Formats: sequence, structure tokens, C-alpha cells
Amino acid sequence: MKVNKAEIVISAVSEKQYPNNRWPEIALAGRSNVGKSSFINKLINRKNLARTSSKPGKTQTLNFYTINDAFYFVDVPGYGYAKVSKKEREKWGEMMEEYFSLRDTLRLTVLIVDIRHKPTEDDRMMYDFLKHFEIPVLVIATKLDKIPKNKKDTHLKRVIKTLEMDPNDAVIPFSAETSEGKEEAWRYLSNYLK
Ligand code: GTP
Ligand code: MG
Repeated sequence: MKVNKAEIVISAVSEKQYPNNRWPEIALAGRSNVGKSSFINKLINRKNLARTSSKPGKTQTLNFYTINDAFYFVDVPGYGYAKVSKKEREKWGEMMEEYFSLRDTLRLTVLIVDIRHKPTEDDRMMYDFLKHFEIPVLVIATKLDKIPKNKKDTHLKRVIKTLEMDPNDAVIPFSAETSEGKEEAWRYLSNYLK
């Protein structure tokens, strides 16, 4: 996909603020600091349009990006960061539930996991949550550049097994450093944007 235009339109905390022009939408989900914002930036060839950070918890709101005046990427705050108060966790849960249960223009959610590690209990919960709302899921196993090439298949199998993935769902190995998996990810996403 050739991206000519990418802009942030709104950082939303509640449904009233979501854009309402009904373009198709692709959301990101995943642990804090796993690389959700970096995935968006890599796909649209922008260094830091979706703000990234080496510290977890950078993205705190639902950030809607318009792409080519045709669809949205929605960057979503991560989960699983220990230093978050109970109150903040509850707020996060409400924001997620509201978004994923109500958003009928949402076509697909990209669940990002770290290929180096076994998916966490939170990752499993997120996958199950998306399945519960019958939202199509693509799993991206990122930070591929951080493992030796000969470990790739073993690590991918562990992702599939730990998440107990539906055999119809895909997992794509990816790196925001080397761009591996970028074209394959675009091909997959394009099918949901028609
Ligand atoms: P929150 O907004 O806090 O939930 O984090 P996030 O999931 O948006 O993560 P972000 O994209 O900000 O990336 C977190 C850190 O991981 C940054 O330091 C990135 O440079 C790094 N990172 C992301 N993707 C990759 C990758 O594919 N390879 C490597 N080596 N580092 C990556
Ligand atoms: Mg982020």
C-alpha cells in the first residue's frame, strides 16, 4: 500500500469523540511497550507520527490516524504495565470495552506480541476478548530482529499454542527495525479495507 497522507485526527477517551464519517478502521492492541505505535509508523513510513517511547505507557488515549483519506488506524493504550494504579486500570478497561463493543466500523484488530517471549496471561485475555466480540484478529509477532533466525519457527509456534489461536487466524513475524513482515502485513490488512 502506498501511503500518501497520514494525520492524527483525535486522541479520544470516550465514544462521543470518535470520528463519525464511517471509514473502515484497524485497531492495534498489545502489552505496553511491545511496539504498537512502532508498527503503525513502519507501515506508513513515518518515524514518529504515532509517538513511541522506550518507557511503557506512552499511548494513553485512543489515537485515530487517517490514512490516505480512506481509513483509520487506531493506536490503543497498552496493558500489563505493573506500575499502573487500580483506578487507571479500571479506566483502561472501560475505555477498551466501550471501544471494542461499540465500534461497528472496526474491521480488524492487530494484536501485537513480542516474538522473544511466551505470550502473557494478559495477551491471552486480549485475544479471547476480541474473539468474544467477534472482531477479526491478526497477530503480529514483533521484534523479530531480536532473535536468531533459526529460532523463528519455534517462537511462532509458541505464540500460536499459548494464545490457543483459531487455525483460521494468521500470525506474521515482523520487525519495525528491519521492515521484515511489512509487505505481508499490508497484504493482510488490505483485505479488510475493501
Ligand atoms: P505503549 O504506547 O507504551 O503501549 O507502547 P507501544 O506498544 O506503542 O510501543 P512503542 O512502539 O512505543 O515501542 C516501544 C519500544 O520498543 C521502543 O523503544 C521501540 O523503539 C521498540 N521497538 C518497537 N518495535 C521494535 C522492533 O521491531 N524491534 C526492536 N528492536 N525494537 C522495537
Ligand atoms: Mg504506543
